[in-house]
Amino acid sequence: MTTLVRDIATLRQHVARWRGENSSVALVPTMGALHEGHLALIDIAKANAERVVVSAFVNPMQFAPNEDFRQYPRSLESDISAVEARGGHILFAPNTGEIYGEGFATRIEVGGAGEGLEANERPGFFVGVATVVAKLLLQCAPDSAVFGEKDFQQLLVVRQLVRDLDIPVRILSCPVVRDEFGLALSSRNAYLSKEQTEVARRLNVVLRETGEEISAGERIAEVLARGKSRLLQEGFDKVGYLELRDGENFDAVKTLASGGGQARLLAAVRLGSVRLIDNMPVR
Ligand code: PAF
Repeated sequence: MTTLVRDIATLRQHVARWRGENSSVALVPTMGALHEGHLALIDIAKANAERVVVSAFVNPMQFAPNEDFRQYPRSLESDISAVEARGGHILFAPNTGEIYGEGFATRIEVGGAGEGLEANERPGFFVGVATVVAKLLLQCAPDSAVFGEKDFQQLLVVRQLVRDLDIPVRILSCPVVRDEFGLALSSRNAYLSKEQTEVARRLNVVLRETGEEISAGERIAEVLARGKSRLLQEGFDKVGYLELRDGENFDAVKTLASGGGQARLLAAVRLGSVRLIDNMPVR
């Protein structure tokens, strides 16, 4: 049975009761409009904790004024059913006033992984993410929290945040969940027309083939330049970035040997007004 919780005090009461029963707790932070990608996060949470809280909060602080805060899909009823079907215990869906009360004036800025790529394309985005994630972690005080690799840079920002602020939580991640054509699942896919969906499905193909060319030892700068042209040829209107980064410290990878951790190929593209991101490991 999933309980809908709207306020922080009630969330804390539930968590305190679970703690009294010696139960471990996992948090799955989301913005709602749950799809199979989110449900995979819930599965990981369930495998790692006895109690699972899913938060659904469309965080205004991470949207720039020109972005889609107002249109962002909201579907509380079906989110409750989805969390229930997957065995989550609480759906925490606060309103904006509960999270950003009167006089709220704190912003958390994460350096390191919080710089470049998404931060350049969406100024203020990671400040909004880091601030709300820190708040959710403090409100729920879970043992673990689960984030998707779909937002790979966000995952590294969250890891940096909890490390730097000594927040006692284990950050778990879940590989990108894709549809049958390899398109990474995203709530924003709902904005795509039929024709745009066809084009969107080419993003993972170009990423995979670009990654293979890099693995085969071709010069990275040349492969990336070719990959960008190919994305435009495939019908994307704009390539925000196509870059190879270290999967742990997020430094730019110039040669495969230079990356300490596994390398990640990351892309952001535009199709009309819809912005899509995706990434893949490069071995
Ligand atoms: O990835 C998301 O859905 C959001 O950025 C998050 C982590 C829930 C913070 O609002």
